[in-house]
Amino acid sequence: MRIDVVSIFPSYFDGLTLSLLGKARDSGILDLHVHDLRDWTHDRHRTVDDTPYGGGAGMVMKPEPWGLALDDLTAGLDTRPTIIFPSPAGELFRQSTARELAHREHLIFGCGRYEGIDERVFEYASTLGDVRLMSLGDYVLNGGEVAVMAMTEAIGRLIPGVVGNPESLVEESHEDGLLEYPSYTKPSTWREREVPPVLLSGNHGAIAAWRREQQIERTRQRRPDLLAE
Ligand code: ADE
Repeated sequence: MRIDVVSIFPSYFDGLTLSLLGKARDSGILDLHVHDLRDWTHDRHRTVDDTPYGGGAGMVMKPEPWGLALDDLTAGLDTRPTIIFPSPAGELFRQSTARELAHREHLIFGCGRYEGIDERVFEYASTLGDVRLMSLGDYVLNGGEVAVMAMTEAIGRLIPGVVGNPESLVEESHEDGLLEYPSYTKPSTWREREVPPVLLSGNHGAIAAWRREQQIERTRQRRPDLLAE
């Protein structure tokens, strides 16, 4: 998979050289490129923002650098990329979204800052690729960078070969619409706290049933919205 990220803070993404995604990049499974939006400005101050038409607080990202960046990153492609703009006003990014996007050949992420990006950029981008505005959740970040880090990790780990043991992807929270069951390791007694005896029983049927109950009970307590779905 190829991923291009455009940001005015490219060094945010230095963390993506670490751990499993770093290895995936080294082995060529993940071809990740981070670009500085200011490289597509042509004025002395490398300006990327301006005041909003109609008034109001804050600054808006100018369309021109975004247009040039998108032109360059989509030039000569034979397939339409998926172009994702993180935004608190977007659709919710979920595990099912990560699963869907892990099958795409090419993702382009555009990180907005300030009060957002000039709305015409999204229309223009949709002439070059499939545009999605995606929110991590109902809270506001200072910009799209942290959201893109999270989405890249959630998507990247689902690309075949990135996580060493694919079994570990199956029994995770959100894979079947429930939260994950609790996990324990040795020692069986720690600070007067016992591991649930069923896990030491060797009875695989009983263990599977207990884990399922735990998943349902946890989901009921912590995320009743998921059970309703
Ligand atoms: N940018 C600012 N807040 C965001 C959020 N909640 N999700 C995605 N991008 C954002």
